[in-house]
Amino acid sequence: MIFPKSEKEPNPKRNNPRESLTLCVANDRLKTMTRTRINPWRREGDGMFPITYRMDEHHHIFIGGMSVRDLAECYGTPLYVLDYATMLGRIRQFQGALDEMMPPGHAFYAGKAFLCTAMAGFLNDQGWGLDVVSGGELYTALQAGFDMTKIVFHGNVKTQEEIEAALRYGVGYVVADSLDELVLLNETARRLDKEAPVLLRLTPGIEAHTHAFIQTGQFDSKFGFAMKDGIHEEAVDAALSYSHIKLKGFHAHIGSQIFDEDPFVHNAERLMSFFGTLWEKRGFWPEVLDIGGGFGVQYTPLDDPPDVTRVLMRVNRTVQAMTPRACQVPLVFIEPGRAIVAEAGVTIYRVHATKTVPGGKHYVAVDGGMGDNIRPALYQAAYSAQVDGKPPEEMIRYTIAGRYCESGDILIRDVSLSPVEVGDYLVVFGTGAYNYAMSSNYNRVPRPAVVVVSQGRSTPWVKRETYQDLLTQDLPWKGLE
Ligand code: LLP
Repeated sequence: MIFPKSEKEPNPKRNNPRESLTLCVANDRLKTMTRTRINPWRREGDGMFPITYRMDEHHHIFIGGMSVRDLAECYGTPLYVLDYATMLGRIRQFQGALDEMMPPGHAFYAGKAFLCTAMAGFLNDQGWGLDVVSGGELYTALQAGFDMTKIVFHGNVKTQEEIEAALRYGVGYVVADSLDELVLLNETARRLDKEAPVLLRLTPGIEAHTHAFIQTGQFDSKFGFAMKDGIHEEAVDAALSYSHIKLKGFHAHIGSQIFDEDPFVHNAERLMSFFGTLWEKRGFWPEVLDIGGGFGVQYTPLDDPPDVTRVLMRVNRTVQAMTPRACQVPLVFIEPGRAIVAEAGVTIYRVHATKTVPGGKHYVAVDGGMGDNIRPALYQAAYSAQVDGKPPEEMIRYTIAGRYCESGDILIRDVSLSPVEVGDYLVVFGTGAYNYAMSSNYNRVPRPAVVVVSQGRSTPWVKRETYQDLLTQDLPWKGLE
């Protein structure tokens, strides 16, 4: 087996990011680059591209002031690249809208979209909260020094250990998903002599128009308590009856990659109307209304994401209008994941083969695929791509195939690209959310590095896995006799 040289002998010229966290910065040619221009294919306002996306006169692509080619040569491929300015821009856009609300709303970034220690640190610095769904995400936040009071702990299965950890570390809210979990929460809190701050997860019966696998608001869902047949009321009874549970409010996330504004507003309406019933029937008024995430993003020119500022303004109006005089307007929580990172991310692949099959279909095979982006295989998710350094002329329709041993490992089914050759770098856009987070070592392929780019500098946030890393949990064969 031949191992890449850099794993054994660091190549100083390549800055060897596989072994260290040395920065790769734009070279002089790039620093003095004055003639970059906006890509002619790009439509003004397209979210599909990171906001710092540029193309120079030789059709080389730049993100965060870094050339895609230099990044590929410095860190190897495939490579996840995240544009800092885009992430920050999205955070500020949401924050601006939340600040306009009365009372101001709060954001909890959904860590499931993309989380690593540096990401948690970055969010903490922005004053954002974090939605975690596992002990692993919680541990990452803890190691990053995240403010635990700004954590919402989700998940339809939380183990005894996870619940105990959440309560010991003092997370802000635990979102209870079942009656069994309420019992466990109450018992654990009693044992630790604490009070568990709880939100109840409800399914409001709203079917957002998105892929069935990422719909969650309908009654027939594995998540939460259905707002039907008194199921949600039974959950409230239980929560209010337990001595070590403090019921703070309710949560309902209706799905992901939602383009319409109305489902978000209907969700708030449905919850607020339930709050009204609770007030009338029991004199209980919740402090928190958590509407989850799900704000759609643009993967291709066909996608038309909602205006988040308008959505939040409409939600706020609804919440205010439906709060009885005697009660305080509840705090609105949101949990955007995809909307913060998806469009900030691109994946750089190297082209390893091109072929044309009988019937004339053209394939391009790259050095990544379903191991670093499972979404096309899992959800038929569509992506956009460009070849670095090629003029947008004589476009050919290609199918982009991954390297994994599955016929279904197709990254993009139909994309028009300039003629592609072996050695070209292919840039796939919109890969910042649920790509690294859902990556695997299928076929024992090491996972790519994650590098953040900003103003001509690159900073690795996650190192590329090595072949040695693949073996860290393996134990040697010692026979079974
Ligand atoms: N809050 C809760 C309770 C959630 O279940 C989710 C996503 C979010 C927030 C964040 O949703 P976002 O803003 O990212 O749409 N793997 C799928 C997405 C699954 C989403 C699951 N829950 C994908 O790659 O499309």
